[in-house]
Amino acid sequence: SEQKAQYKARIKTLLAEKNAVLVAHYYTDPEIQALAEETGGCVSDSLEMARFGRDHPAKTLIVAGVKFMGETAKILSPEKRVFMPTLEATCSLDLGCPEKEFSDFCDAHPDHTVVVYANTSAAVKARADWVVTSSIALEIVEHLDSEGHKIIWGPDKHLGAYIEKQTGAKMLKWNGACIVHDEFKAKHLHDLKSMYPQAAVLVHPESPSSVIDLADAVGSTSQLIKASQEMDNEMFIVATDKGIFYKMQQLTPDKTFIEAPTGGNGATCKSCAHCPWMAMNGLVAIENALIADDLSEHEIFVDDDLREKALIPLDRMLNFAQ
Ligand code: 13P
Repeated sequence: SEQKAQYKARIKTLLAEKNAVLVAHYYTDPEIQALAEETGGCVSDSLEMARFGRDHPAKTLIVAGVKFMGETAKILSPEKRVFMPTLEATCSLDLGCPEKEFSDFCDAHPDHTVVVYANTSAAVKARADWVVTSSIALEIVEHLDSEGHKIIWGPDKHLGAYIEKQTGAKMLKWNGACIVHDEFKAKHLHDLKSMYPQAAVLVHPESPSSVIDLADAVGSTSQLIKASQEMDNEMFIVATDKGIFYKMQQLTPDKTFIEAPTGGNGATCKSCAHCPWMAMNGLVAIENALIADDLSEHEIFVDDDLREKALIPLDRMLNFAQ
């Protein structure tokens, strides 16, 4: 609409004026991803967002995603100012892993190496030996397991179970889950597969193991996008946040992408294949992050002591991934 075009034009001007760059996740709404692309920002998975934010010369980062992504950006680039469309955009994995409880769990097993998913607070990262994202988790755990480390894994139980199955590692797992992926149902997916036997099934490993078992490819957002390009199928059933369809469709416009089913008729599903917090990154919120008088609603601050501690396991991941 015309109003949206006006917002976009104003945001473009403000980004340029403020030497700011927009860093967006594949789960944000299509118009936000398009805006990041049009303005020289990035649209990517959580690992690439971290790298892009760190390496980009802009003095200000506008992170369209969820809070841990803004915190990671700030930890990696304390000299930059990091703003988010809203600081309310949290993550069920982060919420389900409070620092105190997690730290007590780690303290109870002092001989274990602590590996945490990027979807955690800065405080939880500060307690960890390694941070991993879904695109690098398998390789890092494989490496640690081969060196004989005993491993604490948190917080995603489904990703943890998938990694255990793939690597043979046995980990002490935290009991967290992503509300979006947790909703995918194997029975309904099985039925949909029977309706479309020609379709390949792409599954993010935050999904339940029964859903992963039906997958033709399992991986992080960037890995699923790559699979959708490389596999010969004309049709894909995709079990992850539907924001990802923007990039899949853009890269292969002739292929068909359909959503994997979430429970029942949809009426019982809380998040329906779209993260409610990612959805908070709208145009109005982005403009506000660029002009607001009260920046306390938008700016990310991480306490110095916490930042220095959290940087260690984050740097380990980035150096390993190089
Ligand atoms: P990736 O983009 O690393 O696959 O992460 C997905 C996710 O959980 C984002 O919140």
